[in-house]
Amino acid sequence: MVSLEEYFIEPEKCINKKKFQPVSYLRRKFSLVKEISKAELNITALGLYKGYINGKAISDQIFMPGFTYYKKRVQYQTYDVTSLLKKGLNVISVMLGDGWYRGKIGIFSKRYFYGEKTKLSAVLNVNFVDGTTDTITTDNRWNATQNGPILKSDWKDGEVYDARRELIGWTELDYDDSNWHEIYQGVYNGAIDPSEGEKILEHERFTPEILKTPDGSTVLDFKQNLFGYVEFTVSGKSGHKVKLTHGEALDENGNFTLKNLIANGLLGARGTFQEIKYILKDGIQTYKPNFTAHGFQYVKIENWPEEVKVENFTSIAIYSDMEQLGSFECSNPLVNQLVSNSRWSQKSNFMDIPTDCPQRERAGWTGDIACYSSTATYLMNVNKFLAKWLKDVALQQTEEGCIASIVPDVGLPSFADGAAGWADAVIIIPYVLYQAYGNEKILEDQYESMVKWMSFLEGRAKKTHSSRWLKKNPYKNYTIDYGFHWGEWQEPGRPMSTDAIKGFFKPDFEVATAYYAHSAYLMAKIAAILGKSEDAENYSTLFENVKKAYRYNYTSNGIVNSNRQCKYIRPVAFGLISEEEKIVNITKLNELIKENNYKIGTGFLTTPYVLQMLSDYNFVETAYNLLENTERPSWLYEVKKGATTIWENWNGIDDKGKPTDSFNHYLMGSVIGFLFSHVAGIRSLEPGYNKVSIKPLPGGSFKFVNCIYRSVTGLIESAWKIEGSKFILNVEVPVDAEIHLPDGTVYYVSKGKHVFSCTLKHHVERI
Ligand code: BGC
Repeated sequence: MVSLEEYFIEPEKCINKKKFQPVSYLRRKFSLVKEISKAELNITALGLYKGYINGKAISDQIFMPGFTYYKKRVQYQTYDVTSLLKKGLNVISVMLGDGWYRGKIGIFSKRYFYGEKTKLSAVLNVNFVDGTTDTITTDNRWNATQNGPILKSDWKDGEVYDARRELIGWTELDYDDSNWHEIYQGVYNGAIDPSEGEKILEHERFTPEILKTPDGSTVLDFKQNLFGYVEFTVSGKSGHKVKLTHGEALDENGNFTLKNLIANGLLGARGTFQEIKYILKDGIQTYKPNFTAHGFQYVKIENWPEEVKVENFTSIAIYSDMEQLGSFECSNPLVNQLVSNSRWSQKSNFMDIPTDCPQRERAGWTGDIACYSSTATYLMNVNKFLAKWLKDVALQQTEEGCIASIVPDVGLPSFADGAAGWADAVIIIPYVLYQAYGNEKILEDQYESMVKWMSFLEGRAKKTHSSRWLKKNPYKNYTIDYGFHWGEWQEPGRPMSTDAIKGFFKPDFEVATAYYAHSAYLMAKIAAILGKSEDAENYSTLFENVKKAYRYNYTSNGIVNSNRQCKYIRPVAFGLISEEEKIVNITKLNELIKENNYKIGTGFLTTPYVLQMLSDYNFVETAYNLLENTERPSWLYEVKKGATTIWENWNGIDDKGKPTDSFNHYLMGSVIGFLFSHVAGIRSLEPGYNKVSIKPLPGGSFKFVNCIYRSVTGLIESAWKIEGSKFILNVEVPVDAEIHLPDGTVYYVSKGKHVFSCTLKHHVERI
């Protein structure tokens, strides 16, 4: 039985909120009188913990207990610690840091957002060989101190570590803690749930190149942008101070910069940000941070006491341990790098919760993951990871059903909640998980919160008609013209600040109404899957009505007239107009893109769809031209500029070389889904790939594609090449499959490996 709620303790009596708190160290000795057969430790914290038994780490997991909506729940972990214990005296020791609980979080870098004092609760259940048991808890027999080496450990600012203050041997049994102080009783009123996400672990390691930048600084370039930290070895004199600052870019002069991340100081990240300050003890020493990490590729080194040598630095990537599912390789090396960039942005931002970026905000923006989720399912198994986060989405939902823009909450004003395309994550993501992994349970688990969101939308549509033009509108009750909406967001040339202000004063209700329809459409499907036929019927009627409202309000007889690419894509992708109208609109989109010299013009919301829509309506070469374009703005412009992750802003580096905004936002990497579903043509015909279709799409400069997807039903391979005018396709499927060749022939095959070929009639060789 786990009864962690009874055993919360606090290591601090009172704190000075104006200062940063040093990390707390806690320990307790206990005696086990018999031979042990099994021992399990259940442990959690408000803050971040690292635990040891008899000097050994209880796990290689880091940043535990993970990030949840602490106002309502925290997770606990269970570790089998049998091998760490022995008959006789033992000691358990724990370090406790601020983490998300009271460290700086979110866009405004709020501190103490969830609470002021860190708390720990642990229950160690021991079974003895003779069948009896014993339980050790976080009772009043623990001692604590704040007099250790970590003077500050902030989630966004970084760590201050004084190696002279190290508590040598503090995790060992014979350490003398008699000058430590007592602990205090703590209370936590939220739920304490078993850990359900993926383990957060250290992964890849990189050795840097050393740069001497024009301003004379020493900068390490690890060649890969990531979320993680640097482990370093240094030797020098006691008291010598070194500083490491972590950033993603060099500026237009080739110097280290944080300006792209600090957004002119607006985001509360002025001054200290992603810094490690280390004070040396005598001799050789190795260090890596404990309760902080950074988004970075470059590290500026200051006051290093000896020659800076590459072998003394390693960057370590940190992310949730998800199984890699898909790989894609083709004849265009820039596209291959783009796939790698997307995978790395996914790794950097799938850190217990899906974040927008791993440096500036590190926040669970609902819209970012709603748009990217489908691509995410191809690259890695994100089933458990997203299911864990969706629980918090539902927990944070208001009584009226409003869904937040950021989950878990980091203090964004609530007016920004309920935004179209962001809040709809509550419906979109469970459906994506159902499609990709056949996870029907997630639909059941989240159904209540989806229904609540729908009734929120229905209320919103019916009660408020702020715009005059809507007053006499026959569809006014099915049109959303209220609330804050981020809109399409991050179209090329539209700065974030302008979009955010517009979202408040002049929100784009076309987007809001389109998402209302789309959510109703998905709800009709979800309700039908769950056998709720009455709900299914109601939602499909609602969809039809909102669809009519959309067509009436935002198109002229189904035809869009706009100079923005997103406006054509949305009604087609969401099925809001007739087939004939779709053809006209995508034809117009094709013209617009051509006039724009095949440059991308979409933002967050329609980037996932643009290439799919073009190729589904036979503008395959336009889709490839957009994909393979290397002029700004485009995906491959970023690659040519040396990107190793996906940029937030299409104009991330301007002509002068000036970096703007985050370099590690996965969202625009949503194009990778198109490579799997269209270019390689791997699609699921029944949820969880119980029936598969392979419909490859040759085009552009592509001479071959090798694509593998480890679906839940088994390995799927689509590998094609072009030899002269001959198209050759090798497939492997784990279940029955339809094979569609580019010449229009269709084959029906069963499980196994198959080879096909055909002549490419209209294939134009490109140079
Ligand atoms: C974040 C996003 C987010 C957006 C809201 C930005 O500051 O980084 O990715 O979705 O705000 O539109």
